[in-house]
Amino acid sequence: MRIVNGKHVRQMDEAAVAAWTAGYQETIVDLGTGDGRFVRHLSGQHPGVGVIGVDVCAANLRIASREVVRNALFVVADALALPDELSRVATHVTVNFPWGSLLRGFLTGHPGLLAGLGAVGSGGATLDIRLNAGALGEAGWTLEAGSERVTLLLRDAGLHVGPTRVLGPADLCRWPTTWAKRLAFGRDPRAIWIDATLP
Ligand SMILES: C[S@@+](CC[C@H](N)C(=O)[O-])C[C@H]1O[C@@H](n2cnc3c(N)ncnc32)[C@H](O)[C@@H]1O
Repeated sequence: MRIVNGKHVRQMDEAAVAAWTAGYQETIVDLGTGDGRFVRHLSGQHPGVGVIGVDVCAANLRIASREVVRNALFVVADALALPDELSRVATHVTVNFPWGSLLRGFLTGHPGLLAGLGAVGSGGATLDIRLNAGALGEAGWTLEAGSERVTLLLRDAGLHVGPTRVLGPADLCRWPTTWAKRLAFGRDPRAIWIDATLP
């Protein structure tokens, strides 16, 4: 798979990924990671956890990945067609405020996305998704209907989905991603947090 370090992109094969994850009891994979702030935050707060940020846009990852951090990797990949090297690496998968094809993937139950989630999560891995009202609105869904739709599709795919939580401006302000901060001061500062467990 393609690893971004600043302006450079290098390949990392399955054996190297397995050796890297073997160094950590837990590995978090953050899909649609954007500028990498979440990955930098988690890897700094939890040095014993491996954190892998994935985004389809290499340019987004450039600044966060410039400094090499032992327990963080930045991968350029489409979450709808995740690389085989990520198979069974994650104990936790996170998705913060997806838009574009990633959000559409959740709203349509895109087979590539669902298959990728199943492949990336090791048995019993958790998945938490935060969907924001503005992005859902642009995709033609209300916050409530959009989150119900995603919940239903995840259940259909065999995931156990727990109760959802509503996030307001104060929650968004505290959440350590760049997009959360923007949303907190935006026109519609609401989001839904969906917790699930992969089969
Ligand atoms: C609204 S931004 C959120 C970024 C970050 N999670 C945050 O909270 O600051 C959505 C991100 O999803 C990424 N994205 C959209 N479709 C994707 C896909 N199919 N695969 C991977 N990343 C995708 C975009 O490139 C963008 O960085």
